[in-house]
Amino acid sequence: MRRLLIAGNWKMHKTPSEARVWFRELKRLLPPLASEVALLPAFPILPYAREAFQDTQVAYGAQDVSAHREGAYTGEVSARMLADLGCRYTIVGHSERRKHHQETDALVREKLLRLLEEGITPILCVGEPLEVRERGEAVPYTLGQLAAALEGVDLQDPRQLVVAYEPVWAIGTGKNAAPLDAEEMHQAIRSALSKRYGEGFAARVRILYGGSVNPGNFASLLSMPNVDGGLVGGASLGLESFLALLRIAG
Ligand code: PGA
Repeated sequence: MRRLLIAGNWKMHKTPSEARVWFRELKRLLPPLASEVALLPAFPILPYAREAFQDTQVAYGAQDVSAHREGAYTGEVSARMLADLGCRYTIVGHSERRKHHQETDALVREKLLRLLEEGITPILCVGEPLEVRERGEAVPYTLGQLAAALEGVDLQDPRQLVVAYEPVWAIGTGKNAAPLDAEEMHQAIRSALSKRYGEGFAARVRILYGGSVNPGNFASLLSMPNVDGGLVGGASLGLESFLALLRIAG
C-alpha cells in the first residue's frame, strides 16, 4: 500500500560539476525499481538535477526552504523557486538545522506551509537527542515535534507529507536505531497521524527512518512494517553504496 522512498540527503557535499557526473552515472546504472528514489542536493545543484532527472523516475528536491514567500530576505530560497525547478520533495526540520541554525518548531511549521502552498511534499524530520532517549522520553518528545510542526496544518492527501524519524544520536555516528526501536517510534507517529488526519490518511503516509542507514542495516530496518524507506546521508554520497541501498529496497 505504501511505496518505499529512498531519499539521499547530500547535505553540504559535492560541487555542481561533481554532481553532474554522478547523476549521469546513476542514470546509466539505475535498475528498474518498485520503490521511489529522491535526491536532495544543495541548492546550486538543483538545476543539474532537473537536467538529469526531468521525465525520469528519479525525484529531487532541496534540504531547506525559506519560511517567507518573497522579498528582502538575503540568502534565502523560496518554495516558489524550488517548485519552478521541479522539486517534488524538500526536507524541513532536519536536526542539523534545528541545532546549528536554531530552527524552532514554529519556524519548521512555517517552512512546511510554504512548501505545501507550492505543491512540494515536505519531508518533515523529527527525532530525539540521546539524553531524551536515555530518560525514556523519546516517543513523547518526537510526537511533540510532530504535533508542533503540523499544528493547524490541513492535509487532505497522504502524498502531501513524508515524515522522517531521525534520532539525533544516530545521524552520522554509525549508530543506527535498533529496528524494533525504530518500529515502535514509527508506529507511534502513524497512530498520532491517524488521530489527527484519519486512519486512511495515516495508513498511506510514508514514514522514513534516517540515521546511519547503510547497506548492512537497511534490510532489517525495512523489514519493519511501519518503516517505509530511508532518509540517507553518508551512504547516499557514493554511487556504489547508494545503488546497494536501492537494490535492497527493490
Ligand atoms: P546519515 O545522515 O545517514 O549520514 O546518518 C542522515 C541524515 O542526516 O538525514
